[in-house]
Amino acid sequence: MAEPRILIVDDEPDMVDNCARILRRAGHRCLTATDPHRALALLESEHPDLLLTDLKMPEIDGLALLHRARELDPALPVVVITAFATIESAVAAIKEGAFDYLPKNFSVDQLTLVVERALRQRRLALENRNLREQLQTTLGLDNIIGRSPAMAQVFELLKKAARSEANILVLGESGTGKELIARAVHANSPRAAQAFVPVDCASLPENLLESELFGHEKGAFTGAVRTKPGLMETASGGTLFLDEIGDLPVSLQVKLLRSLQERQIRRVGGTALIDVDVRVVSATNRDLRESVAKGQFREELYYRVNVIEIRLPPLRERAGDVRLLAQAFLKRYGQARVLAYDDAAIAALEAYAWPGNVRELQNVVERACALAEGDLVTVRDLPDHVRVGARRADTPAAASTPGEAPLTGTTDLGLKEAKERWMAVLEASYLRQLLERHQGNISAAAKAAGIDRKTFHRLIGKHHIRG
Ligand SMILES: Nc1ncnc2c1ncn2[C@@H]1O[C@H](COP(=O)(O)OP(=O)(O)OP(=O)(O)O)[C@@H](O)[C@H]1O
Ligand SMILES: [Mg+2]
Repeated sequence: MAEPRILIVDDEPDMVDNCARILRRAGHRCLTATDPHRALALLESEHPDLLLTDLKMPEIDGLALLHRARELDPALPVVVITAFATIESAVAAIKEGAFDYLPKNFSVDQLTLVVERALRQRRLALENRNLREQLQTTLGLDNIIGRSPAMAQVFELLKKAARSEANILVLGESGTGKELIARAVHANSPRAAQAFVPVDCASLPENLLESELFGHEKGAFTGAVRTKPGLMETASGGTLFLDEIGDLPVSLQVKLLRSLQERQIRRVGGTALIDVDVRVVSATNRDLRESVAKGQFREELYYRVNVIEIRLPPLRERAGDVRLLAQAFLKRYGQARVLAYDDAAIAALEAYAWPGNVRELQNVVERACALAEGDLVTVRDLPDHVRVGARRADTPAAASTPGEAPLTGTTDLGLKEAKERWMAVLEASYLRQLLERHQGNISAAAKAAGIDRKTFHRLIGKHHIRG
Protein backbone atom coordinates (compact mmCIF):
# COMPACT_ATOMS: atom_id res chain seq x y z
CA MET A 1 0.00 0.00 0.00
CA ALA A 2 2.35 2.68 -1.27
CA GLU A 3 0.12 5.76 -1.13
CA PRO A 4 -3.29 4.92 0.24
CA ARG A 5 -6.24 6.45 -1.54
CA ILE A 6 -9.60 7.34 -0.07
CA LEU A 7 -12.83 7.32 -2.04
CA ILE A 8 -15.36 9.85 -0.70
CA VAL A 9 -18.98 9.46 -1.75
CA ASP A 10 -21.92 11.74 -0.88
CA ASP A 11 -24.73 13.15 -2.96
CA GLU A 12 -24.12 16.57 -1.40
CA PRO A 13 -21.14 18.16 -3.22
CA ASP A 14 -20.34 20.38 -0.21
CA MET A 15 -19.91 17.39 2.01
CA VAL A 16 -17.58 15.69 -0.44
CA ASP A 17 -15.51 18.86 -0.86
CA ASN A 18 -15.24 19.40 2.88
CA CYS A 19 -14.04 15.90 3.58
CA ALA A 20 -11.60 15.94 0.69
CA ARG A 21 -10.17 19.28 1.80
CA ILE A 22 -9.63 18.10 5.37
CA LEU A 23 -8.11 14.80 4.38
CA ARG A 24 -5.85 16.25 1.69
CA ARG A 25 -4.57 18.73 4.26
CA ALA A 26 -3.74 15.76 6.46
CA GLY A 27 -1.70 14.37 3.54
CA HIS A 28 -4.10 11.83 2.07
CA ARG A 29 -4.91 11.19 -1.56
CA CYS A 30 -8.61 11.40 -2.30
CA LEU A 31 -11.02 10.38 -5.05
CA THR A 32 -14.52 11.83 -4.96
CA ALA A 33 -17.95 11.06 -6.32
CA THR A 34 -21.39 12.59 -5.83
CA ASP A 35 -23.09 9.93 -7.91
CA PRO A 36 -23.11 6.40 -6.52
CA HIS A 37 -22.86 4.90 -10.02
CA ARG A 38 -19.69 6.82 -10.57
CA ALA A 39 -18.55 5.64 -7.14
CA LEU A 40 -19.07 2.03 -8.21
CA ALA A 41 -17.06 2.58 -11.34
CA LEU A 42 -14.23 4.13 -9.30
CA LEU A 43 -14.29 1.22 -6.87
CA GLU A 44 -13.84 -1.18 -9.75
CA SER A 45 -11.21 0.77 -11.66
CA GLU A 46 -9.21 2.49 -8.94
CA HIS A 47 -9.12 -0.02 -6.07
CA PRO A 48 -9.11 2.59 -3.29
CA ASP A 49 -7.89 1.70 0.21
CA LEU A 50 -10.78 3.24 2.10
CA LEU A 51 -14.37 4.05 1.27
CA LEU A 52 -16.02 6.93 3.07
CA THR A 53 -19.66 7.06 2.12
CA ASP A 54 -22.96 8.70 2.99
CA LEU A 55 -25.68 6.19 3.82
CA LYS A 56 -28.68 7.96 2.37
CA MET A 57 -28.35 8.61 -1.34
CA PRO A 58 -30.82 8.41 -4.21
CA GLU A 59 -30.74 5.28 -6.43
CA ILE A 60 -27.96 3.28 -4.81
CA ASP A 61 -27.80 3.78 -1.07
CA GLY A 62 -24.71 3.52 1.08
CA LEU A 63 -25.50 -0.02 2.21
CA ALA A 64 -25.66 -1.30 -1.35
CA LEU A 65 -22.39 0.43 -2.10
CA LEU A 66 -20.90 -1.12 1.00
CA HIS A 67 -21.98 -4.57 -0.16
CA ARG A 68 -20.52 -4.16 -3.60
CA ALA A 69 -17.32 -2.66 -2.27
CA ARG A 70 -16.73 -5.57 0.09
CA GLU A 71 -17.48 -8.03 -2.69
CA LEU A 72 -14.84 -6.40 -4.85
CA ASP A 73 -12.31 -6.17 -2.06
CA PRO A 74 -13.04 -7.93 1.23
CA ALA A 75 -10.12 -6.12 2.85
CA LEU A 76 -11.52 -2.67 2.10
CA PRO A 77 -12.54 -0.71 5.21
CA VAL A 78 -15.74 1.27 4.83
CA VAL A 79 -16.70 4.24 7.01
CA VAL A 80 -20.29 5.41 6.73
CA ILE A 81 -21.39 8.97 7.35
CA THR A 82 -24.79 9.32 8.91
CA ALA A 83 -27.15 11.90 10.33
CA PHE A 84 -27.89 11.52 14.03
CA ALA A 85 -31.48 10.69 13.20
CA THR A 86 -30.44 7.53 11.41
CA ILE A 87 -28.01 6.09 13.92
CA GLU A 88 -29.79 2.72 13.68
CA SER A 89 -28.89 2.45 10.03
CA ALA A 90 -25.27 3.19 10.96
CA VAL A 91 -25.41 0.27 13.36
CA ALA A 92 -26.93 -1.86 10.63
CA ALA A 93 -24.02 -0.86 8.38
CA ILE A 94 -21.53 -1.97 11.03
CA LYS A 95 -23.28 -5.30 11.19
CA GLU A 96 -22.91 -5.55 7.43
CA GLY A 97 -19.17 -5.12 7.74
CA ALA A 98 -18.60 -1.35 7.84
CA PHE A 99 -15.47 -0.45 9.78
CA ASP A 100 -17.04 2.48 11.66
CA TYR A 101 -19.45 5.37 11.28
CA LEU A 102 -19.22 9.13 11.60
CA PRO A 103 -22.05 11.49 12.55
CA LYS A 104 -22.75 14.15 9.89
CA ASN A 105 -21.60 17.00 12.13
CA PHE A 106 -18.20 15.40 12.73
CA SER A 107 -15.23 17.47 13.81
CA VAL A 108 -11.96 17.59 11.85
CA ASP A 109 -10.29 15.47 14.52
CA GLN A 110 -13.02 12.88 14.45
CA LEU A 111 -12.68 12.54 10.71
CA THR A 112 -8.88 12.31 10.59
CA LEU A 113 -8.83 9.90 13.51
CA VAL A 114 -11.29 7.45 12.03
CA VAL A 115 -9.45 7.61 8.70
CA GLU A 116 -6.09 6.87 10.38
CA ARG A 117 -7.59 3.91 12.19
CA ALA A 118 -9.27 2.56 9.07
CA LEU A 119 -6.06 2.82 7.06
CA ARG A 120 -4.11 1.04 9.78
CA GLN A 121 -6.68 -1.72 9.61
CA ARG A 122 -6.28 -1.82 5.85
CA ARG A 123 -2.52 -2.20 6.15
CA LEU A 124 -2.91 -5.14 8.53
CA ALA A 125 -5.53 -6.78 6.35
CA LEU A 126 -3.27 -6.52 3.31
CA GLU A 127 -0.29 -7.93 5.18
CA ASN A 128 -2.46 -10.83 6.26
CA ARG A 129 -3.71 -11.36 2.79
CA ASN A 130 -0.18 -11.41 1.38
CA LEU A 131 0.86 -13.94 3.95
CA ARG A 132 -2.12 -16.07 3.12
CA GLU A 133 -1.43 -15.83 -0.58
CA GLN A 134 2.20 -16.80 -0.10
CA LEU A 135 1.06 -19.73 1.96
CA GLN A 136 -1.40 -20.73 -0.69
CA THR A 137 1.13 -20.72 -3.46
CA THR A 138 3.51 -22.79 -1.39
CA LEU A 139 0.80 -25.26 -0.48
CA GLY A 140 -0.47 -25.60 -4.00
CA LEU A 141 -3.96 -24.28 -4.33
CA ASP A 142 -6.48 -23.92 -1.59
CA ASN A 143 -9.13 -26.03 -3.22
CA ILE A 144 -6.94 -29.00 -4.13
CA ILE A 145 -6.94 -31.12 -1.03
CA GLY A 146 -4.12 -33.50 -0.29
CA ARG A 147 -1.17 -33.89 2.03
CA SER A 148 0.04 -37.30 0.97
CA PRO A 149 3.62 -37.51 -0.28
CA ALA A 150 2.24 -38.48 -3.69
CA MET A 151 0.24 -35.25 -3.90
CA ALA A 152 3.04 -33.14 -2.44
CA GLN A 153 5.10 -34.20 -5.45
CA VAL A 154 2.29 -33.18 -7.76
CA PHE A 155 2.04 -29.73 -6.16
CA GLU A 156 5.78 -29.26 -6.40
CA LEU A 157 5.79 -30.03 -10.10
CA LEU A 158 2.62 -28.04 -10.71
CA LYS A 159 4.08 -24.86 -9.27
CA LYS A 160 7.20 -25.07 -11.40
CA ALA A 161 5.35 -26.13 -14.52
CA ALA A 162 2.73 -23.40 -14.16
CA ARG A 163 5.36 -20.65 -14.17
CA SER A 164 6.68 -21.76 -17.55
CA GLU A 165 4.98 -21.49 -20.91
CA ALA A 166 5.40 -25.21 -21.55
CA ASN A 167 2.44 -27.29 -22.67
CA ILE A 168 1.31 -29.68 -19.99
CA LEU A 169 -0.28 -33.11 -20.16
CA VAL A 170 -2.22 -34.20 -17.08
CA LEU A 171 -2.61 -37.97 -16.76
CA GLY A 172 -4.68 -39.91 -14.29
CA GLU A 173 -7.57 -42.27 -13.82
CA SER A 174 -11.10 -40.95 -14.03
CA GLY A 175 -12.06 -38.72 -11.11
CA THR A 176 -8.51 -38.06 -9.89
CA GLY A 177 -8.85 -34.30 -10.38
CA LYS A 178 -7.28 -33.69 -13.77
CA GLU A 179 -9.49 -30.73 -14.57
CA LEU A 180 -8.85 -29.22 -11.15
CA ILE A 181 -5.11 -29.47 -11.79
CA ALA A 182 -5.47 -27.94 -15.25
CA ARG A 183 -7.30 -24.96 -13.74
CA ALA A 184 -4.64 -24.65 -11.05
CA VAL A 185 -1.92 -24.57 -13.69
CA HIS A 186 -3.70 -21.70 -15.40
CA ALA A 187 -4.40 -19.84 -12.15
CA ASN A 188 -0.73 -20.03 -11.16
CA SER A 189 0.57 -19.07 -14.57
CA PRO A 190 1.50 -15.66 -16.01
CA ARG A 191 -1.65 -16.03 -18.14
CA ALA A 192 -3.95 -16.18 -15.12
CA ALA A 193 -5.65 -12.89 -15.97
CA GLN A 194 -6.62 -14.17 -19.42
CA ALA A 195 -9.14 -16.83 -20.37
CA PHE A 196 -9.12 -20.51 -19.40
CA VAL A 197 -11.03 -22.27 -22.17
CA PRO A 198 -12.00 -25.91 -21.73
CA VAL A 199 -12.78 -28.09 -24.75
CA ASP A 200 -14.12 -31.59 -24.29
CA CYS A 201 -12.63 -33.50 -27.21
CA ALA A 202 -14.78 -36.57 -26.52
CA SER A 203 -18.19 -34.97 -26.51
CA LEU A 204 -18.67 -33.73 -30.08
CA PRO A 205 -18.70 -35.35 -33.51
CA GLU A 206 -15.66 -34.51 -35.60
CA ASN A 207 -17.05 -31.72 -37.81
CA LEU A 208 -18.70 -29.91 -34.90
CA LEU A 209 -15.57 -30.17 -32.82
CA GLU A 210 -13.59 -28.71 -35.71
CA SER A 211 -15.79 -25.64 -35.96
CA GLU A 212 -15.84 -25.29 -32.16
CA LEU A 213 -12.06 -25.30 -32.05
CA PHE A 214 -11.21 -23.33 -35.16
CA GLY A 215 -14.38 -21.32 -35.71
CA HIS A 216 -16.13 -20.91 -39.04
CA GLU A 217 -16.98 -18.28 -41.61
CA LYS A 218 -20.54 -17.41 -42.45
CA GLY A 219 -21.88 -19.90 -45.01
CA ALA A 220 -19.07 -22.42 -44.43
CA PHE A 221 -21.70 -25.13 -44.08
CA THR A 222 -25.47 -25.37 -43.80
CA GLY A 223 -26.44 -23.74 -40.57
CA ALA A 224 -23.40 -21.47 -40.43
CA VAL A 225 -25.55 -18.35 -40.55
CA ARG A 226 -22.91 -16.10 -39.10
CA THR A 227 -19.15 -16.05 -38.64
CA LYS A 228 -18.07 -17.53 -35.35
CA PRO A 229 -14.59 -17.38 -33.88
CA GLY A 230 -13.36 -20.69 -32.48
CA LEU A 231 -12.21 -21.59 -29.00
CA MET A 232 -8.55 -21.37 -30.05
CA GLU A 233 -9.15 -17.70 -30.72
CA THR A 234 -11.07 -17.21 -27.50
CA ALA A 235 -8.20 -18.77 -25.60
CA SER A 236 -5.58 -16.56 -27.25
CA GLY A 237 -3.43 -15.00 -24.56
CA GLY A 238 -4.70 -17.56 -22.10
CA THR A 239 -4.91 -21.32 -21.68
CA LEU A 240 -6.68 -23.88 -23.87
CA PHE A 241 -7.68 -26.99 -21.91
CA LEU A 242 -8.05 -30.00 -24.19
CA ASP A 243 -9.91 -32.49 -22.03
CA GLU A 244 -9.86 -36.15 -23.16
CA ILE A 245 -7.28 -35.30 -25.81
CA GLY A 246 -6.85 -39.02 -26.47
CA ASP A 247 -10.27 -38.95 -28.13
CA LEU A 248 -9.36 -36.25 -30.65
CA PRO A 249 -10.00 -37.58 -34.18
CA VAL A 250 -6.84 -38.02 -36.26
CA SER A 251 -7.74 -35.39 -38.86
CA LEU A 252 -8.14 -32.80 -36.11
CA GLN A 253 -4.89 -33.92 -34.50
CA VAL A 254 -3.15 -32.95 -37.72
CA LYS A 255 -4.91 -29.59 -37.92
CA LEU A 256 -4.25 -28.85 -34.24
CA LEU A 257 -0.59 -29.73 -34.58
CA ARG A 258 -0.18 -27.40 -37.52
CA SER A 259 -1.86 -24.51 -35.75
CA LEU A 260 0.27 -25.01 -32.65
CA GLN A 261 3.45 -25.08 -34.72
CA GLU A 262 2.53 -22.03 -36.76
CA ARG A 263 0.66 -20.19 -34.03
CA GLN A 264 -2.00 -19.41 -36.59
CA ILE A 265 -5.37 -20.85 -37.47
CA ARG A 266 -7.75 -20.75 -40.36
CA ARG A 267 -11.48 -20.80 -39.64
CA VAL A 268 -13.57 -23.49 -41.31
CA GLY A 269 -14.54 -22.11 -44.71
CA GLY A 270 -12.13 -19.20 -44.32
CA THR A 271 -8.90 -18.27 -46.05
CA ALA A 272 -7.37 -15.69 -43.74
CA LEU A 273 -4.75 -16.80 -41.23
CA ILE A 274 -5.45 -15.61 -37.70
CA ASP A 275 -2.76 -15.34 -35.04
CA VAL A 276 -3.38 -17.29 -31.88
CA ASP A 277 -1.20 -17.47 -28.82
CA VAL A 278 -2.34 -20.30 -26.60
CA ARG A 279 -0.78 -22.38 -23.92
CA VAL A 280 -2.16 -25.90 -24.08
CA VAL A 281 -2.96 -28.00 -21.05
CA SER A 282 -4.39 -31.41 -21.96
CA ALA A 283 -5.79 -34.29 -19.98
CA THR A 284 -6.55 -37.92 -20.63
CA ASN A 285 -7.11 -41.13 -18.75
CA ARG A 286 -5.78 -43.14 -21.68
CA ASP A 287 -2.28 -44.35 -22.17
CA LEU A 288 -1.34 -41.88 -24.92
CA ARG A 289 2.03 -43.49 -25.53
CA GLU A 290 0.25 -46.70 -26.35
CA SER A 291 -2.13 -44.81 -28.67
CA VAL A 292 0.95 -43.43 -30.43
CA ALA A 293 2.38 -46.92 -30.77
CA LYS A 294 -0.90 -48.13 -32.23
CA GLY A 295 -1.01 -45.27 -34.71
CA GLN A 296 -4.11 -43.72 -33.11
CA PHE A 297 -2.38 -40.59 -31.90
CA ARG A 298 0.09 -38.49 -33.89
CA GLU A 299 3.53 -38.72 -32.41
CA GLU A 300 4.49 -35.09 -33.21
CA LEU A 301 1.35 -33.87 -31.47
CA TYR A 302 2.11 -36.08 -28.49
CA TYR A 303 5.49 -34.43 -28.03
CA ARG A 304 4.06 -30.98 -28.65
CA VAL A 305 1.36 -31.23 -25.95
CA ASN A 306 3.44 -33.28 -23.54
CA VAL A 307 6.37 -31.05 -22.72
CA ILE A 308 5.72 -31.56 -19.02
CA GLU A 309 3.71 -34.51 -17.78
CA ILE A 310 1.80 -34.33 -14.50
CA ARG A 311 0.71 -37.76 -13.37
CA LEU A 312 -2.09 -37.79 -10.80
CA PRO A 313 -1.94 -40.79 -8.49
CA PRO A 314 -5.17 -42.74 -7.93
CA LEU A 315 -6.81 -41.95 -4.61
CA ARG A 316 -5.90 -45.37 -3.16
CA GLU A 317 -2.24 -44.37 -3.42
CA ARG A 318 -2.64 -41.12 -1.48
CA ALA A 319 -2.04 -42.13 2.10
CA GLY A 320 -4.21 -40.16 4.51
CA ASP A 321 -5.95 -38.08 1.86
CA VAL A 322 -9.23 -40.02 1.98
CA ARG A 323 -9.87 -38.80 5.51
CA LEU A 324 -8.89 -35.24 4.61
CA LEU A 325 -11.11 -35.16 1.53
CA ALA A 326 -13.96 -36.83 3.39
CA GLN A 327 -13.82 -34.08 6.04
CA ALA A 328 -13.73 -31.34 3.43
CA PHE A 329 -16.69 -32.77 1.50
CA LEU A 330 -18.61 -33.20 4.76
CA LYS A 331 -18.15 -29.51 5.41
CA ARG A 332 -19.45 -28.76 1.95
CA TYR A 333 -22.45 -31.13 1.88
CA GLY A 334 -23.27 -31.43 5.58
CA GLN A 335 -24.47 -27.83 5.54
CA ALA A 336 -23.72 -27.40 9.25
CA ARG A 337 -26.28 -30.14 9.98
CA VAL A 338 -24.13 -33.25 9.57
CA LEU A 339 -20.94 -32.55 11.47
CA ALA A 340 -18.78 -35.66 11.65
CA TYR A 341 -18.28 -39.34 10.91
CA ASP A 342 -18.44 -42.04 13.50
CA ASP A 343 -15.31 -44.20 13.78
CA ALA A 344 -16.73 -47.12 11.84
CA ALA A 345 -17.74 -44.89 8.94
CA ILE A 346 -14.30 -43.30 8.68
CA ALA A 347 -12.69 -46.73 8.90
CA ALA A 348 -14.93 -47.99 6.10
CA LEU A 349 -14.08 -45.00 3.89
CA GLU A 350 -10.39 -45.46 4.49
CA ALA A 351 -10.48 -49.18 3.77
CA TYR A 352 -12.34 -48.87 0.46
CA ALA A 353 -10.35 -48.90 -2.80
CA TRP A 354 -12.10 -45.96 -4.59
CA PRO A 355 -11.96 -47.07 -8.21
CA GLY A 356 -13.81 -43.84 -9.13
CA ASN A 357 -11.28 -41.82 -7.11
CA VAL A 358 -12.08 -38.39 -5.67
CA ARG A 359 -15.28 -37.99 -7.65
CA GLU A 360 -16.63 -41.24 -6.22
CA LEU A 361 -15.70 -40.20 -2.69
CA GLN A 362 -17.37 -36.85 -3.21
CA ASN A 363 -20.58 -38.55 -4.38
CA VAL A 364 -20.54 -41.01 -1.49
CA VAL A 365 -20.18 -38.20 1.04
CA GLU A 366 -22.89 -36.11 -0.57
CA ARG A 367 -25.25 -39.09 -0.44
CA ALA A 368 -24.29 -39.93 3.14
CA CYS A 369 -25.02 -36.36 4.21
CA ALA A 370 -28.47 -36.62 2.67
CA LEU A 371 -29.15 -39.93 4.41
CA ALA A 372 -27.66 -39.20 7.83
CA GLU A 373 -30.37 -38.91 10.43
CA GLY A 374 -28.52 -37.12 13.20
CA ASP A 375 -25.38 -35.02 13.05
CA LEU A 376 -23.16 -38.09 12.51
CA VAL A 377 -22.51 -40.09 9.36
CA THR A 378 -22.60 -43.78 10.26
CA VAL A 379 -21.78 -46.88 8.18
CA ARG A 380 -25.49 -47.21 7.52
CA ASP A 381 -25.31 -44.04 5.43
CA LEU A 382 -22.64 -45.53 3.15
CA PRO A 383 -23.48 -47.48 0.00
CA ASP A 384 -23.38 -51.23 0.37
CA HIS A 385 -20.36 -51.81 -1.87
CA VAL A 386 -18.30 -49.31 0.10
CA ARG A 387 -19.19 -51.02 3.37
CA VAL A 388 -18.66 -54.52 1.99
CA GLY A 389 -15.44 -53.56 0.25
CA ALA A 390 -14.21 -52.11 3.50
CA ARG A 391 -15.21 -55.11 5.57
CA ARG A 392 -13.45 -57.36 3.11
CA ALA A 393 -10.29 -55.40 3.57
CA ASP A 394 -10.55 -55.41 7.38
CA THR A 395 -11.69 -58.92 8.19
CA PRO A 396 -11.57 -61.17 5.18
CA ALA A 397 -13.65 -63.86 6.86
CA ALA A 398 -16.60 -61.66 7.66
CA ALA A 399 -17.32 -60.59 4.11
CA SER A 400 -17.46 -64.11 2.79
CA THR A 401 -20.29 -64.95 5.17
CA PRO A 402 -23.28 -63.20 3.67
CA GLY A 403 -25.52 -65.15 6.04
CA GLU A 404 -23.98 -63.27 8.95
CA ALA A 405 -24.53 -59.85 7.45
CA PRO A 406 -26.58 -57.59 9.71
CA LEU A 407 -30.07 -56.61 8.67
CA THR A 408 -29.46 -52.99 9.48
CA GLY A 409 -28.57 -50.71 6.66
CA THR A 410 -30.39 -52.67 3.96
CA THR A 411 -32.59 -49.68 3.18
CA ASP A 412 -30.09 -48.36 0.68
CA LEU A 413 -30.27 -51.60 -1.30
CA GLY A 414 -32.81 -52.32 -4.00
CA LEU A 415 -35.69 -54.50 -2.85
CA LYS A 416 -34.28 -57.49 -4.68
CA GLU A 417 -30.86 -57.32 -3.03
CA ALA A 418 -32.40 -56.50 0.33
CA LYS A 419 -34.64 -59.56 0.06
CA GLU A 420 -31.69 -61.73 -0.85
CA ARG A 421 -29.82 -60.40 2.13
CA TRP A 422 -32.73 -61.03 4.53
CA MET A 423 -33.36 -64.46 3.09
CA ALA A 424 -29.71 -65.39 3.57
CA VAL A 425 -29.87 -64.33 7.22
CA LEU A 426 -33.11 -66.24 7.79
CA GLU A 427 -31.78 -69.32 6.02
CA ALA A 428 -28.60 -69.38 8.11
CA SER A 429 -30.50 -68.93 11.33
CA TYR A 430 -33.02 -71.67 10.38
CA LEU A 431 -30.26 -74.15 9.54
CA ARG A 432 -28.41 -73.42 12.76
CA GLN A 433 -31.51 -73.96 14.91
CA LEU A 434 -32.36 -77.14 13.05
CA LEU A 435 -28.87 -78.54 13.60
CA GLU A 436 -29.02 -77.64 17.27
CA ARG A 437 -32.35 -79.40 17.68
CA HIS A 438 -30.88 -82.53 16.08
CA GLN A 439 -27.61 -82.32 18.01
CA GLY A 440 -25.61 -81.76 14.87
CA ASN A 441 -26.96 -84.81 13.09
CA ILE A 442 -27.02 -83.72 9.49
CA SER A 443 -29.09 -86.57 8.15
CA ALA A 444 -31.81 -85.95 10.75
CA ALA A 445 -31.74 -82.21 10.21
CA ALA A 446 -31.94 -82.60 6.44
CA LYS A 447 -34.83 -84.99 6.82
CA ALA A 448 -36.66 -82.56 9.09
CA ALA A 449 -36.06 -79.78 6.57
CA GLY A 450 -37.38 -81.92 3.76
CA ILE A 451 -34.23 -81.65 1.65
CA ASP A 452 -31.59 -84.18 0.75
CA ARG A 453 -28.34 -84.52 2.64
CA LYS A 454 -26.16 -83.18 -0.16
CA THR A 455 -28.18 -79.96 -0.48
CA PHE A 456 -28.10 -79.50 3.29
CA HIS A 457 -24.32 -79.86 3.24
CA ARG A 458 -24.03 -77.29 0.49
CA LEU A 459 -26.19 -74.83 2.40
CA ILE A 460 -24.34 -75.06 5.69
CA GLY A 461 -21.11 -74.73 3.71
CA LYS A 462 -22.42 -71.56 2.09
CA HIS A 463 -23.25 -70.08 5.48
CA HIS A 464 -20.09 -71.33 7.16
CA ILE A 465 -22.05 -73.31 9.70
CA ARG A 466 -20.20 -76.25 11.24
CA GLY A 467 -22.20 -79.44 11.16
N1 LIG B 1 -7.62 -33.08 -4.53
C1 LIG B 1 -8.91 -32.68 -4.63
N2 LIG B 1 -9.43 -31.88 -3.69
C2 LIG B 1 -10.71 -31.50 -3.75
N3 LIG B 1 -11.57 -31.86 -4.71
C3 LIG B 1 -11.11 -32.66 -5.68
C4 LIG B 1 -9.77 -33.11 -5.69
N4 LIG B 1 -9.59 -33.90 -6.77
C5 LIG B 1 -10.78 -33.94 -7.41
N5 LIG B 1 -11.70 -33.20 -6.77
C6 LIG B 1 -13.11 -33.05 -7.15
O1 LIG B 1 -13.52 -34.29 -7.69
C7 LIG B 1 -14.29 -34.12 -8.87
C8 LIG B 1 -13.61 -34.77 -10.04
O2 LIG B 1 -12.46 -34.04 -10.40
P1 LIG B 1 -12.10 -33.74 -11.92
O3 LIG B 1 -13.31 -33.46 -12.73
O4 LIG B 1 -11.01 -32.72 -11.94
O5 LIG B 1 -11.53 -35.18 -12.31
P2 LIG B 1 -11.01 -35.72 -13.70
O6 LIG B 1 -9.72 -36.38 -13.43
O7 LIG B 1 -11.05 -34.64 -14.71
O8 LIG B 1 -12.11 -36.84 -14.02
P3 LIG B 1 -12.53 -37.44 -15.47
O9 LIG B 1 -11.37 -38.20 -15.99
O10 LIG B 1 -13.68 -38.35 -15.10
O11 LIG B 1 -12.92 -36.29 -16.31
C9 LIG B 1 -14.47 -32.64 -9.04
O12 LIG B 1 -15.68 -32.26 -8.46
C10 LIG B 1 -13.29 -32.05 -8.28
O13 LIG B 1 -13.61 -30.77 -7.79
MG1 LIG C 1 -12.28 -34.43 -16.39
